[in-house]
Amino acid sequence: MFEIDDLKKGFGSAGTSVLFAGLSLRVQRGECVAIMGESGVGKSTLLNCMAGLESVDGGSIRLDGTELVGLGDEALAGLRRHRFGFVFQAFHILPHLDVAQNVALPLWLLDADDARADRCARAMLERVGLLDRAGDWPRELSGGELQRVAIARALVHRPSLVLADEPTGNLDPGRAAGVLDLLLECIRDAGAMGILVTHSRTAALRADRILRLSPGGLLPEAVST
Ligand SMILES: Nc1ncnc2c1ncn2[C@@H]1O[C@H](COP(=O)(O)OP(=O)(O)O)[C@@H](O)[C@H]1O
Ligand SMILES: [Mg+2]
Repeated sequence: MFEIDDLKKGFGSAGTSVLFAGLSLRVQRGECVAIMGESGVGKSTLLNCMAGLESVDGGSIRLDGTELVGLGDEALAGLRRHRFGFVFQAFHILPHLDVAQNVALPLWLLDADDARADRCARAMLERVGLLDRAGDWPRELSGGELQRVAIARALVHRPSLVLADEPTGNLDPGRAAGVLDLLLECIRDAGAMGILVTHSRTAALRADRILRLSPGGLLPEAVST
């Protein structure tokens, strides 16, 4: 379970310019939540706070009972390596590693032995339909394929929580739907939790529920079609 209570974040001296406050959220295992909101409202900052990559000015963030707020950098980094998976708009696939090595990366960071890392990476590549591309270089893949590699990498170490910031923002609408469905399917299959930031309503509708970020907090969005 992922729990946020009364979270506050601001910038400037003593957090004078408040980005959000009083923000609360509960996500259960197997659940995917979409967060929408205007550009600049603080969606990416919120995701960074959730991962302990940015400090907060108050409140609590707990992943499976572990409080992140106040943890030291090293403990946070360890928690991120073990329990978080990330998918970014710009893919962040490393060009000098082949496809399978990119997927294996989180396992290398956890000191898994090479044979096991390779086996798990290939199993995830099979899951996202790219096993036949395992030995290819990233530059040989399309944008949609690169994001499927990123999905495999985000889940290969069986994280508890997957954070995705505009994961289909760089894809054409035709490819975006398939990639997003794959991401949500993989998160649900793994019994993980997903938080998906998007400005696309079509994308958000694929999640279990939609929340809208505003300076006042995270509010449920009525899902009417
Ligand atoms: N380190 C920072 N210092 C001051 N302002 C920042 C900092 N990081 C982000 N911001 C501001 O916070 C706001 C939210 O940014 P962001 O989280 O990227 O929004 P979104 O992802 O919703 O488009 C923006 O107005 C941005 O300028
Ligand atoms: Mg953003």
